[in-house]
Amino acid sequence: MPISHYPVIARAHTNIALIKYWGKANEKLIIPENNSLSMTLDNFYTDTSVQFSQSLTHDELILNHQLIDDSTRITKFLDLVRKRAGINFYAKVESINHVPTSAGMASSASAFSALAAASSKAAGLNLNFKDLSRLARRGSGSASRSIYGGFVEWKKGTNDSNSYAVSIQEHPIMDIRLITVILNRSHKRISSREGMKRSVQTSPYYDAWKKTTASDLQKVKNAISKNNFNQLGQVAESNAMKMHALTLSAWPDFMYFKPDTIKVINKVKSFRDNGINCYFTMDAGPNVIIVCLKKDSQFIKSNLSKTLKSDNIVVSGPGEGVKFLHKIKSEGK
Ligand code: DP6
Repeated sequence: MPISHYPVIARAHTNIALIKYWGKANEKLIIPENNSLSMTLDNFYTDTSVQFSQSLTHDELILNHQLIDDSTRITKFLDLVRKRAGINFYAKVESINHVPTSAGMASSASAFSALAAASSKAAGLNLNFKDLSRLARRGSGSASRSIYGGFVEWKKGTNDSNSYAVSIQEHPIMDIRLITVILNRSHKRISSREGMKRSVQTSPYYDAWKKTTASDLQKVKNAISKNNFNQLGQVAESNAMKMHALTLSAWPDFMYFKPDTIKVINKVKSFRDNGINCYFTMDAGPNVIIVCLKKDSQFIKSNLSKTLKSDNIVVSGPGEGVKFLHKIKSEGK
């Protein structure tokens, strides 16, 4: 395919890992130490438009209508696409993060997944899902999973060609909902990239993480195929806490929990004590993601709304995989 003479637009949804990716075997190629498993969310997504052009003198990045000065990470990613397509044109990249609330919650998973799809097609490449996942992985590991909808597994592999995500169940049978409880939108924290590196290098528990994560993954896959929500929730919660134990046991130690994080975790436990089946997971930040069934999601949300702004409590169902669009929507959802 020749390079596209008009902007190519792709939409990708973010994903939340139920079995976490935490640690790289190869930092340059982003090959993980363990397989991970996620659910793609319907409510958080990124739309990205890309056009390569002979007239540009550098890559240009416009994020949420603002020109970004430092686009080094995007340029490094686009270099992979240019190399593969055999072109040397720069690109104009325009990206909009759609989140139900006004700010924050930008995700590198949806960002690099949308960028992989839009930039490869704009450069004239016609990649299949496996190669799109491999490409997205080079931007950010978790992006490899956002190529697919529903439940997705990233198979760690051993090298660039065999490390990619596969679909486990595109349209989940389980009536699962993930409630994102946004507690802090500030970016002043240890990035997951830095955090996982430190955990691999210094936590004495890292080997135990790898071993138990492999069996956690089997249990979650089993729970998905048997439609066993409680097993999925229990294993996801336990796996998230093991990941956070790596941050506590690293040196210098660090933690993503804030006082409000603990409050929400305790709330989840008290819901559970009162017979509501719900669990929690957390990524590299203070927000809590509650794992529950659709039938309980509105009760949980309204109960939490007594102490938190309801704008900051977002219920998501399973979302779809990456797709191409004709037009970029500029505002809201
Ligand atoms: C805790 O994919 O953001 O969300 O590959 O270095 O870009 P890089 O890391 P990233 O890490 C995600 C970590 C996590 C767990 C997960 O999504 O599996």
